[in-house]
Formats: sequence, C-alpha cells, structure tokens
Amino acid sequence: MTERFANRVNRISVSPTMVVLAEAEKLRARGLDVVDFGPGEPDFPTPAHIKEAAIEALDRNRTKYTPTAGIAPLREAVCRWHAQQLGSSYEPGECIICVGGKHAIYNAVMALIQEGDEVLIPSPYWVSFPDIVKIAGGEPVFVPTDASTGFELRAEELQEAITSRTRMAIINSPNNPTGAVIPPAEFEKIYEVCRKRGIWLLSDECYSHFTYGAARPYSVASIREAKPRLIIVGSLSKTFSMTGWRLGFALAPKPIIEAMLKVQSQCTSNPSSISQYGALAALTGPMDSVPVMLAEYARRRARILAGLSAIPGVSCTEPSGAFYAFPDVSAHLVDGSGDSTALARHLLEREQVAVVPGDAFGAPGYLRISYATSIDRIEEGLRRLERFFASAAVAP
Ligand SMILES: Cc1ncc(COP(=O)(O)O)c(C=O)c1O
Repeated sequence: MTERFANRVNRISVSPTMVVLAEAEKLRARGLDVVDFGPGEPDFPTPAHIKEAAIEALDRNRTKYTPTAGIAPLREAVCRWHAQQLGSSYEPGECIICVGGKHAIYNAVMALIQEGDEVLIPSPYWVSFPDIVKIAGGEPVFVPTDASTGFELRAEELQEAITSRTRMAIINSPNNPTGAVIPPAEFEKIYEVCRKRGIWLLSDECYSHFTYGAARPYSVASIREAKPRLIIVGSLSKTFSMTGWRLGFALAPKPIIEAMLKVQSQCTSNPSSISQYGALAALTGPMDSVPVMLAEYARRRARILAGLSAIPGVSCTEPSGAFYAFPDVSAHLVDGSGDSTALARHLLEREQVAVVPGDAFGAPGYLRISYATSIDRIEEGLRRLERFFASAAVAP
C-alpha cells in the first residue's frame, strides 16, 4: 500500500529503544536466553500501598472522567511533594497531570513550538526529544557534550548555540543515556542564560531520585526568585516503579499550564482515573521503596563499571545518576565508522545481549547499557560482552 502520510509523520521515526526491545523479544520467543540491557524501566514491582490505592479506587467506582488537568488532590499532592523533596514552590493552578512525563513534554512543546522555532537539545539526548520537537514543526539544534567533561552541559555552551530563532532548551539531568548530572550551580547559570535571553527551559526530572556519590536529587525550580521561563517535567514511572501506569506531571507558570491543558483536552483528556489515585498514594505515602531501589542500583552500577573497564578497548565515564552505563566502544568499530547500530545487532545475534546503540541518542560509537536488571543477569551479560569484544571480527 502506498499511502500519503502527513509530513509530521514522515519527519519522525519509531523510538529506536522500542525497536531493540522488539528484536530482543523475537529472540526470546524463539526460546533463546537473552540478556536484556535494553529496558529504560525499573525491574522492581510498584510498591504495595500504591497498588492497594488503585484497587480501592476501582472498588469505589472512581472510574469516570476526571478534570482534564487531573484530580484536585493530586495536583495539590504534586506541588507539596515537589516542594518537600526538591524545594520548589508551586500552586495547584501551576500543575498539570499528564499521561506520563513524555506526554507532559509533548504538551509543553505543542503549546510553545511552531514552524521556524529552534529548540536546543544537549547531545547525547533522550531519543524522544528531537522527534517531539519535529512533530510540532520545530527544529532540534544539538549542543554537543562529551566524555571529557562527563557529558555535563555548561551554561556557556548553551549560550553560544542560541540564535534569534531559539525558543526553548530541553535539559535532562540525571541524563538518559549518559547518567550525567548537572551540578546545581551550573544548572542555575543555565536557567539564568535562558531567562535573560527569553527562552523556555524545559527541565526533565524523570530520574531526579536516582543519584550516586556526591550527586543529590536537585531541581532548578528550587531557586528562590520567580521562575517565569521554567517548565518542570516529572514522572512517577521511575521513582515509584510505575512505568505502565502512565502518570507524569508538569509545573510551570499558569498561562503555560493552561495552554498545555488546551492541547491535552483535545487529545487524551485526563490521565487514567485509577492511575491518578495510585499516584496520590505514591506522593503522599511512605517513600521507603526509593532508597531500597537506589541501593540496589548502586551495587549494580559498581559491578557494571568494573566489568566494562576490564574489557580492552571499552571505556566508560562514571554516571552520577539514572540507571544506565554509556561505554565508548568506538575502538572496536571498523575504520572508525562510528556505526554502533551494526555492532549492537551483531551483539544481539552472536551473544544474545540486547543494548541500545549510541546512534539512537546522537552518539555513534557508544552503547547504552541499562542496569535495571538483576545482578545475576549483569554477571552473565558481562561474561558475554567480554567474549564478544575479545573475538577478532567484531565490527560490521
Ligand atoms: C529522559 C526521559 N524523560 C522522560 C521519559 C518518559 O517517561 P514516562 O513517560 O514513562 O513518564 C523517559 C522514559 O524513559 C526518559 O528516559
């Protein structure tokens, strides 16, 4: 069938991380033992009290439409939780509940970006940022960061990339895929650059609570002054192991929230009522599952970093946050071709190890390895990686 699709669809592609997951699934269906370093989601169950709140919502028939922006107690709970955890000060009218953090980013970009607008995105970047900008008709402009500075964005690098067409910058710290965490003082400088130049700073805090070593959970919204140019996006997916519930939020000045609400009202309407009651329990209840997950991630992170650094020709900066390692494997690519997609395919076919190629994140020569998997699978995966990289003809 040759159908004419709208330009907005032709401009974008299916999320490459989903493609890898699908390939790994095919091998699993053939009965092969796949070590899956692909997933961007916690391998822990959603805490019991959150599940119970959702069951109670069902029992009490909380199964109807809710206000588009989310139920009032949840908007209040998001503001209170964000203030307590990350030091911000927002009111419920400055909050919208969305169908995941990705949806909150989508709504914000749809509300603010149009043809001719440029959006700054530090690279390596989360795969969806550029495509969401493109759907809106905007142009992603990449601001490169590299391993020599631990992939940490500097305010002056962002400043240099600003043109008269720049309308927004999308920053993600802790970062997917690099794990980089922007230090608070630098983050404030980044916000100052955006504010002075009149561009929106969209800060994606999806991994806020997964930090290691000296890094701490931080939000640029904790700055004391008014925040006329800031949009905060948060998600319950990773912090509370609730990826399938599809629940996220945005905090921003009221006119922006109202514009996002307009977009949401003509698209999804409210997020699932049941998920909203689960989220309310998550944000108002005990958070003891978070340090438990964090301690386990820290253990796995240490193991995977030690294992990767023992493989000749593989180097990896220490990620300060999230749950990904992002090793440089370019030494193993033929002619420095930089094509880690072919390498990832070989790795899957030969050793049944699933990783996401760096090309997907704008970083050819790298692989993203998620350590949201058990320590036993990590050990097995490291054994296979060692064998793979030790064999002569690795490259395509
Ligand atoms: C950087 C980043 N932002 C946002 C999201 C979206 O999360 P969700 O839509 O599940 O809240 C993800 C998911 O992987 C992510 O890695």
